[in-house]
Amino acid sequence: MNQVNIDLIAGARPNFMKIAPIIRALQEAEKNGSKLQYRLVHTGQHYDRNMSDQFFEQLGIPEPDVNLGSGSGTQAEQTARIMMAYEKLLMEQPADLCLVVGDVTSTLACSVAAKKLGIKVAHVEAGIRSYDLTMPEEINRMVTDSITDYFFTTSEVANAYLRRTGVEQDRIFFVGNTMIDTLLHHRKDFRKPEIWDEAGLEQGKYIVMTLHRPSNVDEESTLIDLIRTIIDHSRNLPLVFPIHPRTRKVLEHSGLDHPRLLQVDPLGYLEFNYLVERAAAVITDSGGITEETTVMGVPCMTLRANTERPETIDIGTNELLGTNPDAIPASMEKLFSGEWKKGSIPPLWDGHTAERIVEHLENIFQ
Ligand code: UD1
Repeated sequence: MNQVNIDLIAGARPNFMKIAPIIRALQEAEKNGSKLQYRLVHTGQHYDRNMSDQFFEQLGIPEPDVNLGSGSGTQAEQTARIMMAYEKLLMEQPADLCLVVGDVTSTLACSVAAKKLGIKVAHVEAGIRSYDLTMPEEINRMVTDSITDYFFTTSEVANAYLRRTGVEQDRIFFVGNTMIDTLLHHRKDFRKPEIWDEAGLEQGKYIVMTLHRPSNVDEESTLIDLIRTIIDHSRNLPLVFPIHPRTRKVLEHSGLDHPRLLQVDPLGYLEFNYLVERAAAVITDSGGITEETTVMGVPCMTLRANTERPETIDIGTNELLGTNPDAIPASMEKLFSGEWKKGSIPPLWDGHTAERIVEHLENIFQ
């Protein structure tokens, strides 16, 4: 085969850190005469500066070659808009492989559009499952994996799941975690956000909180209950709360205010992880953050009933609290008494995952 044209799909914030190291590894390969060529496709699912552009700049991601400009909407509207725009692109300028990452709407939409045009699909972060079909992400994972040709995985649990569902071993590539490639690559560049000096934050003496799952934030009373319980049980520690647009929309009406609750706009990658690395703990309902806290050894309380990333609990520093605020007090006590588990780093989360992915792609398309 001559040149191999790979579409790299990025749509929403958690995609950007997963795609950045793959681009770097492909650029490196190109210098060495590789046949692998990429086209970066931004679906436009996230479009605010602080949800998208800022990440491109900080992570050194080049300007997308194409922006599908899909914008917001319901799950079906967003999916449909991305599929229509991506299908059109592929019909005008085809690719040999569509590489998707993670579990967002863009992941599902682009993999389906490509596969229906007979284009191979590679899925980075394949095979992880929460078994919770109320999460749009779980449906995205299931559909994407059902049509994936090449599965790049982050854990043995994912490998075992894929094998159990009949995926042949030679299509499963256990490579590690590209999100951790980005974390380790940029760790030396983390930078102090403005809130650090403004609020007089001190290492180990504050908590970082993020909430954006529909089940936690879409109902105002649920969200307020969670936040109030966290405030009531976090002793005298400031709570730094970068607020996702979805959560902001709900909070705007609530008038919630407390002197220790530091409400800020979504932070850049470097600023956010500066805070996480130095925090006493993180309280979150994100999946990706539980991986980052695991690698940085920071106690993490997850406000979800389940996780698709069990290694962050079995090996890492994460604990699942569920979504009932009643679990928060005991967990805070454990933190304050210094009994939080220490944890270690899952296999192959070593900063070299993207290089392994590119090596496999070279072999697949040789
Ligand atoms: C999406 C992902 C989720 C990921 C999260 C991280 C899906 C199904 N979900 O959820 O897995 O953890 O991103 O951020 O893909 N909005 C803006 N500006 C933006 C982007 C969104 O204001 O740049 C608003 C939208 O109008 C919408 C809300 O935020 O009302 C939610 O955005 P959406 O992309 O639908 O899903 P997320 O909740 O961000």
